[in-house]
Amino acid sequence: MHLTKEEEGILDGGEGYAAQKSMQILAALGDIFGAEKLIPVKSVQVSGVSYHNLGDAGLDYLSKLAEDGRVKVPTFLNPAGMDLKAWKKLGISEEFAKKQKMVVDAFASMGVNTTCTCTPYLIGIVPEFGDHVAWAESSAVAYCNSVIGARTNREGGPSALAAGFIGKTPDYGLHIKENRAPDLLVKVETELQELSDWGALGRAIGIRAKNKIPLIDGPGPAPADYLKSFGASIVTFGSKPIYHIRGVTPEAGDFEEPSDSVTIGEPEMKEAYDFLNDEDKTIDFVSLGCPHASLDEIRQVAELLEGRRVADGVEMWVACARPIKEKAEELGYVRTIEDSGAKVAADTCMVVAPVKGRFKSVATTSAKGCYYSQGHNKMKTHIGPIGKCVEAAIEGEWKS
Ligand code: F3S
Repeated sequence: MHLTKEEEGILDGGEGYAAQKSMQILAALGDIFGAEKLIPVKSVQVSGVSYHNLGDAGLDYLSKLAEDGRVKVPTFLNPAGMDLKAWKKLGISEEFAKKQKMVVDAFASMGVNTTCTCTPYLIGIVPEFGDHVAWAESSAVAYCNSVIGARTNREGGPSALAAGFIGKTPDYGLHIKENRAPDLLVKVETELQELSDWGALGRAIGIRAKNKIPLIDGPGPAPADYLKSFGASIVTFGSKPIYHIRGVTPEAGDFEEPSDSVTIGEPEMKEAYDFLNDEDKTIDFVSLGCPHASLDEIRQVAELLEGRRVADGVEMWVACARPIKEKAEELGYVRTIEDSGAKVAADTCMVVAPVKGRFKSVATTSAKGCYYSQGHNKMKTHIGPIGKCVEAAIEGEWKS
């Protein structure tokens, strides 16, 4: 990859340790993927924020970078392992909280915006069509590429942070228009009604698309909240972090129709739901907001929980970005939700928080949440619309 004189200077250590390390990472990535040059990025999202995933080795790495590293473009964080303020309410230990705060403090001293969310586009961090960014969390990357039409590869934590320090990323993969072309036509011949149907559709397409980019025909328009859940699912189960839906996403008409095709109908949707739903109906954890909840989703939860109580022995979280929680507090939604015994968890989520071993069985709206709860957290899972998840929290049981 060609480096400019200025970039060579950074590689030689002219701007200090963190910038030098970052340029090494970006140059190596560029060489591996055949990039010709670095291109400027408008924003960066860094993953690998939860101390649960980082451990002490990750914290040491960040602390070293924080000694002289300062980001050059707006850079923000993926969810952390806890609500940075209300962590005690979520049952997080003092020891974990101390380490998690050290991680976030290290990012803060680098000039990183410490809002921790996988839905930056819900709190005003919205790139424009065609912008280049370097985002890391897979659902955010899928939404950015597919729904917004901005361009990003799925960065790892270190490569995203490197892009923040340099303000650039190697020009390869999904930054290049021709690499965004679909190579699998997906005909959807089933009606999608609920949020969770879109998660199940993501599973059904993802396992068939594998490493292909789908051009999806048939489902028609969907609310943004459904697309955020769909993107999280499709990328979790298989395809590249971009999809096109005819009549919905902005680049769907820009390419030739792929010759390879699959059809998703009732049997494929049933298979997806069977994978996501366990036979055991007992529930001890209900988690909404994967990807992080919008204000409207929180409103729905508040209305469904008003005047009711979450069952004894059931923990319920609604995860969201802190600015969304603050708006929900102003509107009284948080009060209503918390009066029921449920919790609104800012900055964190069901997958990156240290919940392994605490719960046996989760109800959620999220196919991605099911996947990681089954694999990573060894839980049984149930997926359904918001209303059904709220009923599971009240009853402690998943009703068929
Ligand atoms: Fe976001 Fe956590 Fe789900 S990062 S997409 S809420 S697993």
